[in-house]
Amino acid sequence: MEIRLDTQPFAAIQADALVTYVFEKDGRVEGVVAELDQLTGGRLRELADSGELTGKSLEMTLVHYPAGLAAQRLLVVGAGKPEKFGTAELRKLAGASLRLLKTKSVKRLAFLARENDCTSAAAQAITEGLVIANFESDKYKTENKNNKEVEAATLVGWDEAGRASAEAGVARGRIVADSQNFTRDLVNEPSNRLTPSLLAERADAMARQAGLAVDILDEKRIEELKMGALLGVAQGSAEPPRLIVLTYTPPQAREGAPVIGLVGKAITFDTGGISIKPSEGMEKMKYDMAGGATMLGVMRALAQLKPAVKVVAVIPATENMPGGRAQKPGDVQIAMSGKSIEVINTDAEGRLVLADGLAYARKLGCTHLVDAATLTGAIVVALANVNVGVFGSQQDFTDRLLVSARAAGEKMWQMPVDDDYREMIKSTIADIQNVGSGKGGGAVTAAMFLKEFVEDTPWIHLDIAGTAWLDEAKPWAAKGASGVALRTLVDFVMNFDSAR
Ligand code: BES
Ligand code: ZN
Ligand code: ZN
Repeated sequence: MEIRLDTQPFAAIQADALVTYVFEKDGRVEGVVAELDQLTGGRLRELADSGELTGKSLEMTLVHYPAGLAAQRLLVVGAGKPEKFGTAELRKLAGASLRLLKTKSVKRLAFLARENDCTSAAAQAITEGLVIANFESDKYKTENKNNKEVEAATLVGWDEAGRASAEAGVARGRIVADSQNFTRDLVNEPSNRLTPSLLAERADAMARQAGLAVDILDEKRIEELKMGALLGVAQGSAEPPRLIVLTYTPPQAREGAPVIGLVGKAITFDTGGISIKPSEGMEKMKYDMAGGATMLGVMRALAQLKPAVKVVAVIPATENMPGGRAQKPGDVQIAMSGKSIEVINTDAEGRLVLADGLAYARKLGCTHLVDAATLTGAIVVALANVNVGVFGSQQDFTDRLLVSARAAGEKMWQMPVDDDYREMIKSTIADIQNVGSGKGGGAVTAAMFLKEFVEDTPWIHLDIAGTAWLDEAKPWAAKGASGVALRTLVDFVMNFDSAR
């Protein structure tokens, strides 16, 4: 989709559809966009009076051949209550408008931003909403394919004075949303088409194209590093593991400056291993590499946005299979850090591969760590499919991520990290065990396990098990991989003040 800015008056904009939005005030639609109403001969007022147009969030009112407009359709989207409106709502409603118009074979749309929204951040949010909405999860369909992609979008409402900042917003939005779609495409891939080595190849190709340094560690090098936790998971599979390392170095790199480590869980398929999962819904476990795919997408965006801080992504990739050589409940593995782990449940494999991933990121010099993982079913119990679970070892560091989440329009909720939970992962025969004893708190004990491998490095863990996959489409996004956390992490790195 081509996206450009046009500073002409909106009435003159040629398009298959012009989109704008109205607010709901005191249960009634606001004084209906006066200029539009006038141009269309009071059409909007009539619709409002009849009760069809109310301004309720994501309400869609489509007017055909509107008088006074060069565009062939006018789509008025409900923006909800003005006091609840921000860039997050703008992103969603832009996306929802595109997905509605797509079903009507619209190829060229124009999006009219209201006066208050003619900012750079709004241009970015609208662009992101449109590009994310244009993505479909139907790569492998040969029939009934949704080939109704919108081909061009024009942003309207800005004047010449605002052009440069709006265009910068569009450019940023493009980079971020294309990267989010890159992640979604990887997450949607079935596991036979995205084994650990194929994921590594995709990462390698992306890194080369983006100008990132890349190092793919094969089984031999993983063994040399004594990554017993990662190898323990991998040994049940016929597919060899990979450890994917991508590095972004800023143009003004300084000796001794902070280095952010992004560690992503990439289980290309999680059967549970010997502690095998029930067959119902197991097909979804192809998305157990979403954390790793998210970090790849983040790196893709950063390569173009060029933050001032160095960033290293570390992605342990393996299948979790119950093969003849698979690890068994009760086995003890020695992680790269030297800690011994009793594997009580082979289905708690994410924390095992992350243990070595986090330790390796520290070994590579990372001073700050963030991991993302589809880690626990327990986070789905706690937060459903709504919020990402956020765990952190230092509140000021965690707070900065939560600020980015709000800016990026992604819901995240902080969960506790507390030594009282540490008791629950003590093992009888090893240093720690990979599941909590006692009842409940499964998402927290998983986080406590990871914490054992970050030592005193500031660290944030994002449990995206409930949010990385959409079982149903949203008005603004296709079903399947969501690409959650990518926008937050990009914003977080871009605003990481290396002086702090
Ligand atoms: N990949 C799963 C977690 C998961 C669950 C992701 C649901 C997406 C949706 C993880 O490896 C797992 O199996 N965790 C176990 C841990 C348990 C054995 C302590 C779980 O949450 O059930
Ligand atoms: Zn598992
Ligand atoms: Zn898993």
